[in-house]
Amino acid sequence: YVIGVDLGTSAVKVLLINQQGQVTQEVSKEYSLIQEKTGFSEQNPEDWVHQTIAGLTDVMNGFEGDPEDIEGISFSGQMHSLVLLDEHQKVLRNAILWNDTRTTEECQQIYDEVGKDRLLEITKNLALEGFTLPKLLWVKKHEPDIYQKVDTFLLPKDYVRLKLTESLNMEYSDAAGTLLLDVTQKKWSKEICRLLDINEDICPPLVASHDEVGTLSSEVARETGLSASTRVFAGGADNACGAIGSGILKDGHTLASIGTSGVVLAYENRGDKEFQGKVHYFNHGAPNAYYTMGVTLGAGFSLNWLKDVLAKDQSFDQFVKEVDSVPPGANGLLFTPYIAGERTPHFDSSIRGSFIGLDSSHEQRHLVRAVLEGITFSLNESVEIFRNQGKQIESIISIGGGAKNDTWLQMQADIFNAKIIKLSNEQGPGMGAAMIAAYGCGWFESLEKCTEAFLQKEKIYEPIKENVKKYQVLFTLYKQIYDTTATINK
Ligand code: XUL
Repeated sequence: YVIGVDLGTSAVKVLLINQQGQVTQEVSKEYSLIQEKTGFSEQNPEDWVHQTIAGLTDVMNGFEGDPEDIEGISFSGQMHSLVLLDEHQKVLRNAILWNDTRTTEECQQIYDEVGKDRLLEITKNLALEGFTLPKLLWVKKHEPDIYQKVDTFLLPKDYVRLKLTESLNMEYSDAAGTLLLDVTQKKWSKEICRLLDINEDICPPLVASHDEVGTLSSEVARETGLSASTRVFAGGADNACGAIGSGILKDGHTLASIGTSGVVLAYENRGDKEFQGKVHYFNHGAPNAYYTMGVTLGAGFSLNWLKDVLAKDQSFDQFVKEVDSVPPGANGLLFTPYIAGERTPHFDSSIRGSFIGLDSSHEQRHLVRAVLEGITFSLNESVEIFRNQGKQIESIISIGGGAKNDTWLQMQADIFNAKIIKLSNEQGPGMGAAMIAAYGCGWFESLEKCTEAFLQKEKIYEPIKENVKKYQVLFTLYKQIYDTTATINK
């Protein structure tokens, strides 16, 4: 067996997986967001550790075999969120999360002091509020007493791994989302540190996703019931692990993953292409590979919001099922999912969402359909960027919340104008983390072989011509909303 731990934004998911790739146990433990001001989003790193240990303990309580049979464990985690540690490895403040948008000034500071072109050359990415470096600069400026004590910074899953193993490091796929990594060279950028007056020593040692970083500490082994000889592998960013867990390991492979945020992600075999920051460009969790990605910040987040406002007591299935009775186009209603700002293609943290075309005949189900369509239109803007760059996208693997509903899967096929593939045993990033452990333990000679053994296709959704046409017209209208609403919003 191996264990994959996915440290998400709302919960940690622990998967126990056997050598055939079957999930024999799955435990989820939630934690909360701390939102003290508009735009602020934080979490207490100790909650992650506590809930991960609780999840592992539950898995072990339900496991009848010998703990020694669990050979390896690895991690996936929310990207970019900043964890600051002092010299005793104590957390200095709450983690500032990827969906926190307080750092617009710091992004400008990065452009002023590093230069946009140089930043793109080194990190391959734009300065965005969600990324780690602007958060570090925010603490430096606003909380100098805390900043002074910083001995190292980590990302969420690296901190949890540290607490489980006592081994401190960060792996490339997550480091790529900090804006401090030279993505092609796979080294911390001395130049960026120097230009922004950041001590390079606070950057942790770098490892690869499948590198073995130690074994579980005896205390954690005792607490959880796992064996202290369980091998621990570094793991990867949630999007890199989502890609591994869905077999996105070759040129031409594309993924749509809809969780709190939504992403469209494409495999890249090189780290030195030019995308001018139009899409994120990060190191993959697969050895020496990369991926490009467009992000919709408010994907599942928008749907959650609507359900909270309209139908708190309804289950998600009930809530989403209502849309079956509404034709494509939601009877003239359009929604932009910018409730927490937008990344791709606008990179605008202050834009806000909208419903356009509200009519007195609209019911809850029309609003739900419009929200699902709006989220999918937003992701289609990323698909469009990929296509404009010459990528052939004929089929897309869909995972996450967006892959749990037939109507939404068909909607993706119709809006993306591509075949949508649903996997039968899809477990998102947690599966990718488990695959890293399986590969690290030597079960397979490559991650690709592992995905061949572990993944099956369940269903393919073909685009329906008539719907594709209708959505193409609506997509053109959808794209006009950003410019029209941008001035009202600010
Ligand atoms: C990616 C991003 C989100 C988080 C969600 O750039 O910010 O997808 O990784 O956990």
